[in-house]
Amino acid sequence: MELDAVINEVRRLKVEKNAVILGHNYMEHAVQLISDYTGDSYDLALKAMSTRAELIVFAGVFFMAEQAAALNPDKKVLSPEPRAGCTLSDSLSVDELRRYREMYPNAPVVLYVNTSASVKALADYIVTSSTAVKVIKKIPNDTVIFGPDLNLANYVKSLIGNSKRIIKVPQNGRCIVHSGYNIDMVKAARMRHPNALLMAHPESPIEVLKQADFVGSTNQMIEYAKSSDAKEFIVATEIGMLNSLRIKVPGKVFHPLVNLDEYGYARCPYMAMVTLDKVYRSLRDEVHEVKLPKSIADAVKDAFERTIKLLEGGVA
Ligand code: 13P
Ligand code: SF4
Repeated sequence: MELDAVINEVRRLKVEKNAVILGHNYMEHAVQLISDYTGDSYDLALKAMSTRAELIVFAGVFFMAEQAAALNPDKKVLSPEPRAGCTLSDSLSVDELRRYREMYPNAPVVLYVNTSASVKALADYIVTSSTAVKVIKKIPNDTVIFGPDLNLANYVKSLIGNSKRIIKVPQNGRCIVHSGYNIDMVKAARMRHPNALLMAHPESPIEVLKQADFVGSTNQMIEYAKSSDAKEFIVATEIGMLNSLRIKVPGKVFHPLVNLDEYGYARCPYMAMVTLDKVYRSLRDEVHEVKLPKSIADAVKDAFERTIKLLEGGVA
C-alpha cells in the first residue's frame, strides 16, 4: 500500500476502534506521522494514563508497551513488535535485583523505566531520563539502589555529589546506542558544525555529557531547541530523534553526532524493528496484546504513582 493509503486507513481504523497510537520520539518518520502523540518515555506513560481511547497501540520498544499496559489495566494495549527489546532492559534480571535488595534492605529501589515489568514490580520508584535527578534528590534516604543504566547513574551522581550513595545494579548496564558515543565523535562533530550547540541524552558516557551544552530526555531536547536562540544543533542520541526534532522544531537545523555509516548503532536496532507496516497491522488485526499478571501490573502502577506523588511534592 502507498504511504497515503496507509495513513488514511490508519485514520479510519483509529476512529472505528476508538484507538490511539502513542509513538516514541525515535520512531521512523512515517510512524510519527500516524501517531496521535509522540514523546519521551515519561510523557507517553502519562498520555497512556490519561487517554480516553479504549485501545492503545504503543509504537516503541516492548518495555514501553508493558509500562502502558501496567498503567491501564482496563485497556487493551498492543505492541506492534514484541521482540523489540532494549539492551538496558535486558541487562537486569529479577534475581539480580532481589540479591541487591537483600544486601541493602534499607535502600529504596529506583529503577529506570528501561526495565521489564517483572523487574519494575520490585521498584519503589520508577524514573525516566527526564525525572531521574529530581526523584533521587527528593528521596529522603541517604543510599538508593539504582539501575540499570550505568551512564545515567554517573550523570545523576555528578549532579547530586556526595549527598547520596548510589548502589548500581547491575554493574555494567548500558544502552547499545549511547554508550558508544565518545569525545572524538564530539570533537569531530564540533569541527564540522562550529556554530551548533550540542544536546546529549543522559544515557551517554559522562565524558560526552560534560562537553554538552544541554543534557536531557528526548522531549527536553525538543523544548531546549525550541526555546534556544541557536539555530543549529548537534544531537547526541538515537538518530531517529532527528525526525522528531525536524517535525516539532521547524526552521532549525539538526545534525546527528555521528552518521549511520560511521557508527552502525546510531540507529537503535530495536526501535528500527517497529515499522509503519507493523504498527498498521497491529491496529488492524489487534495483535500483539500485552498481558501482565495482575500482581505485576499493580506493583508497577503503585511504584509509578508513588514517583509522580514524590515529584509533585506530596508524601510518597
Ligand atoms: P527518553 O525517555 O528520553 O525518550 O529515552 C528513552 C530511551 O530509550 C532512550 O534511549
Ligand atoms: Fe534501549 Fe538504547 Fe534502544 Fe533506547 S536506544 S531502546 S535505551 S537500546
